Amino acid sequence: MAGSSISFARGAPSLDIIDVDGLRDAATRAFANDPAGATAYGTSVGYPKLRAWIAERHGVQSERVLVTNGSMQADAFLFEALLSAGDEVVVERPTYDRTLLSLRARGTKVHAVELQPDGIDTDALAALLDGGAKPKLAHIIPNFQNPAGYTLSLAKRKALLALAGEHDFVVFEDDPYVELRFSGETLPSMLSLDPERVVYASSFSKTVCPGIRVGYLVGPSELIARVAKLATSTYISPNMLAQAIVYEFCASGAIERSIETVKTALTKRLRTLEVALGRELPQAEFVGPEGGYFMWVTLPEGTDVAALFKAASELGVAFVKGTDFLMEGGENTLRLAYSGVTPQEIEEGVGRLAEAYRSL
Ligand SMILES: Cc1ncc(COP(=O)(O)O)c(C=O)c1O
Repeated sequence: MAGSSISFARGAPSLDIIDVDGLRDAATRAFANDPAGATAYGTSVGYPKLRAWIAERHGVQSERVLVTNGSMQADAFLFEALLSAGDEVVVERPTYDRTLLSLRARGTKVHAVELQPDGIDTDALAALLDGGAKPKLAHIIPNFQNPAGYTLSLAKRKALLALAGEHDFVVFEDDPYVELRFSGETLPSMLSLDPERVVYASSFSKTVCPGIRVGYLVGPSELIARVAKLATSTYISPNMLAQAIVYEFCASGAIERSIETVKTALTKRLRTLEVALGRELPQAEFVGPEGGYFMWVTLPEGTDVAALFKAASELGVAFVKGTDFLMEGGENTLRLAYSGVTPQEIEEGVGRLAEAYRSL
């Protein structure tokens, strides 16, 4: 392993935790069970059987579900349907870099509200709203947030929904990591607490594999119908073959086994990362996540993480600088993804990271 590069940068699973054989079998069944449906254009709302499976899983009517090519496409459709240039939106600080880029490219006015270990600072949000901010939408990643790994508490879920009701904005619950909980108790989705106020997105990228590109949106049926029109004019329909394969994978129960495989491996990787950081880089502060892919690390005030990034890359180790997830500040922070690295690589990678830190 010495010399080979180690990436804590990519929020993607390593090949060993993807059920390739299960996917091959699901593909065989998709062609055998529904050759016409799997190979047709289908409809813009998605492969009907998968749409129904998702609807059942969330306890909603199928009319509330639209299946897309990855949840990133769901995000893009939702923003297109709801937001225009100049509209105000709330995001967490820090937040997923691609969401930030997409909102800024649309010319929206982004209010970034501090993220705490138990989720967005709802008091700060209330003060922002009382001060006159009029967001149309708040983008929230409630479970094992990207990039921080933090989870929104039940009390804050309720507080956020109360603020959304009072100030009339949509809560966009972006939830691709929900199934990957390693410890602590599962919390109700905001969608289940307020189905008319919340639009929910999730994905099979983290539970099946990202290359399959299947995600979805759940929301009020009129909004879903509006988004379906956008989908039709964008790509006629999403990838029916991929969705038919995901359907077969889900219906056979392979998805539950896949989730267990991912959780077991990631629990071990996270534990290895926590122990290695504590031993090799005790200056690193972090709150251990209860699930998901990511850990947010804060180094002592004044540490130049841009310089650390360069020094680390010379030693063959990659991560994402905290500043990529923020509009300003965070120069002493970084995100470590433990989803794509083995425990052995984590040990080696943290050693190199510590060496890079000492060289600053
Ligand atoms: C918070 C969040 N939303 C959306 C996505 C996009 O996922 P997908 O692969 O389903 O497009 C990601 C991927 O990392 C993510 O972290």
